[in-house]
Amino acid sequence: MDLTKIKKEIEAELQKLKTDADCSTFHQKYLGKSGEVTRLVQGLRDIDPSKRASVGAALNELKKSTEERLFSLQNEIKDKEFKNKLMQDKLVDITIPEIHKKQGTLHPITLITSEVEEVFASMGFIIEDGPEIATEFECFESVNIPKNHPARDMQDTFWLNDGRVLRTHTSAWQNHMMKKYGPTFRAICPGRCFRNEAIDASHENTFFQVEGMMIGEDISISNLVYFMQEALTAVFKKNIKVRLRPSYYSFVEPGFDLDASCIFCDDSRSEPSQSDGVTTSKGCNICKHSTWIEFCGCGMIHPNVLEMGGIDHKKYQGFAFGFGLTRLAMMRYGIDEIRLFNSGNLEFLKGVPQ
Ligand code: PHE
Repeated sequence: MDLTKIKKEIEAELQKLKTDADCSTFHQKYLGKSGEVTRLVQGLRDIDPSKRASVGAALNELKKSTEERLFSLQNEIKDKEFKNKLMQDKLVDITIPEIHKKQGTLHPITLITSEVEEVFASMGFIIEDGPEIATEFECFESVNIPKNHPARDMQDTFWLNDGRVLRTHTSAWQNHMMKKYGPTFRAICPGRCFRNEAIDASHENTFFQVEGMMIGEDISISNLVYFMQEALTAVFKKNIKVRLRPSYYSFVEPGFDLDASCIFCDDSRSEPSQSDGVTTSKGCNICKHSTWIEFCGCGMIHPNVLEMGGIDHKKYQGFAFGFGLTRLAMMRYGIDEIRLFNSGNLEFLKGVPQ
């Protein structure tokens, strides 16, 4: 038995391995059931008993080292093949260093956005993404705010030189969603919005909202109440009640402001309580002792808005809502200073539970 010859042959073959398939063929040829090394081991019984032990040991050594070399080569090749495949995938850029959660933290807006997306996706809503720069039509006309309408005054707008605007609300994407998915769909569109606000602890010129729309036959305000209640209960992990108050937004009719039951209140304090003859006021400081917190604007989509979206308002109805993600994050994480969100303050970012 010429072990040196087969050793050399194996070495040469190993050098030639290029693909995962090559490795399998090599394994079959030398290490498989009827592979050459296996046959040599089986042949041991026919050789001179005095040489059997030493040849056996050498053969075992060869088998083991070949297996080890093949195993590590195959892993290397597989890894390379996988990376090549990823390189061809336009969605993945493997040159971006992997960000381990432990090395940093996610921004509270990122966290709350994914939470809200998850909740609405679980209720069948499509997640849409609209641009931060909108045309005047998208931001105003398409949501029933014509030129010179006083409703424009409610949103002090940043204008670009070309006549476009930084969107003042995510409602700017309503028309697009209707044209894309109408006449029956449910979708949300979270994103950054801009208004020329006088900045203080609760007003920012850059903030996040999420728009929601559900259109179909027989959609009513009860659907709106149901989805808002479910979503808020899921986000706050606490039973939340909602109530509607009449309000004005030109793109909904009827329009409402939706209040959520105060998440900070102890449930047992929702009514005034009396002990030792002293009446304790209900609620808490945050809800100003009302047990309700103003949460968002909403309503049934105005027929003009449906028509501009190419949807027959006689056959289909829908609700829309828009709430502040920044505000939601403040409520969720107990943050009382809106300016911290865009401050780049690392201590603030580290303080938010991940
Ligand atoms: N776009 C409104 C705002 O920013 C909120 C809203 C959205 C109200 C949808 C009603 C329906 O104030």
